[in-house]
Amino acid sequence: MAKVLITGIAGFIGSSIARELLAQGATIVGVDNLSTGRMENLEEILSSIEFRRADVQDAQAMDDACVDVDYVFHEAAIPSVPKSVQDPVGTNGPNLDGTLTLLEAARKAGVKRLMYAASSAAYGDAPELPKTEAMLPAPISPYAVQKVAGEHYLSSYARVYGLETVSLRYFNIFGPRQDPTSQYSGVLARFISQMTAGETPTIFGDGQTSRDFTYIDNVVSANLLAAKAPSSVSGKIFNVATGRRVTLLEAYQAIKKIVGYTGDIQFKPEREGDIKHSVADISLAQQMLGYRVVADFTYGLEMTIEWSKGVQSMTAIA
Ligand code: UD1
Repeated sequence: MAKVLITGIAGFIGSSIARELLAQGATIVGVDNLSTGRMENLEEILSSIEFRRADVQDAQAMDDACVDVDYVFHEAAIPSVPKSVQDPVGTNGPNLDGTLTLLEAARKAGVKRLMYAASSAAYGDAPELPKTEAMLPAPISPYAVQKVAGEHYLSSYARVYGLETVSLRYFNIFGPRQDPTSQYSGVLARFISQMTAGETPTIFGDGQTSRDFTYIDNVVSANLLAAKAPSSVSGKIFNVATGRRVTLLEAYQAIKKIVGYTGDIQFKPEREGDIKHSVADISLAQQMLGYRVVADFTYGLEMTIEWSKGVQSMTAIA
């Protein structure tokens, strides 16, 4: 069975990929510097994986982590648009330098293929919808620039060094274990935790801002498909999403209904660097990776809210 390296394994996405790969019998090495990742995310799988507390910018640590590895899933990042606006230099290190450091380690170790958590932020505010991979990137925030630059490094490594790489452009991922506590947390995680706690959520903008909210199971599936796909996928970029657009107001109403929230919502001005609308064309991933939407928005919300209730009652007991 394959040996895999997952960077950012203590994060929401990295730990979800780890669970599935473990269930499929893979040997897992995971690295995380715990800047945004949390050990609780690895709780019941920690004894079944090799965990290394390391930074993706540490070349020696990445060389060590890549020994005998077949596939790399590179999820480590500071995945926040506003954080990058506030600290462009500080976020460039983990988001871009780390990616290059890891690519170099993977190339030297003879890794078979590296999958990369790219971002739909690459599309910026171009009015054309849905977003197709053939569109020219138009990053707005430093975060988007860092993620696009990473994609270019991946395709360069594929062409120049023959390291197989796949960039997966994630569109607003949500699900259990996504941290709701930071001001930079994803909007659905924040809304769910606020409404279950009876707190008033905030919509930045008029509520018509829309996103292709994608439940985590789809992302896990896309990663596994990308690892198994024929070599013709190497060096390429694929949207990972649902192909469906939901506004912030619709998301708020859907959560309100499931949670049974009776309070209100407040509106504040749009955030700097935010894009207005985002929805993906997923046909390329369908054709070349065999990708399918395995879990829709409503199912995803139900699962996430269910999980969130469990966490809150555990906190209450403690
Ligand atoms: C998200 C991801 C980013 C990814 C990108 C791809 C997170 C934290 N960030 O950025 O990694 O690359 O999608 O498209 O998942 N909002 C509110 N109220 C809140 C919080 C946010 O109205 O309490 C609004 C924001 O202003 C924004 C929208 O919700 O308009 C989505 O914000 P957010 O969940 O932070 O995601 P993105 O910025 O789209």
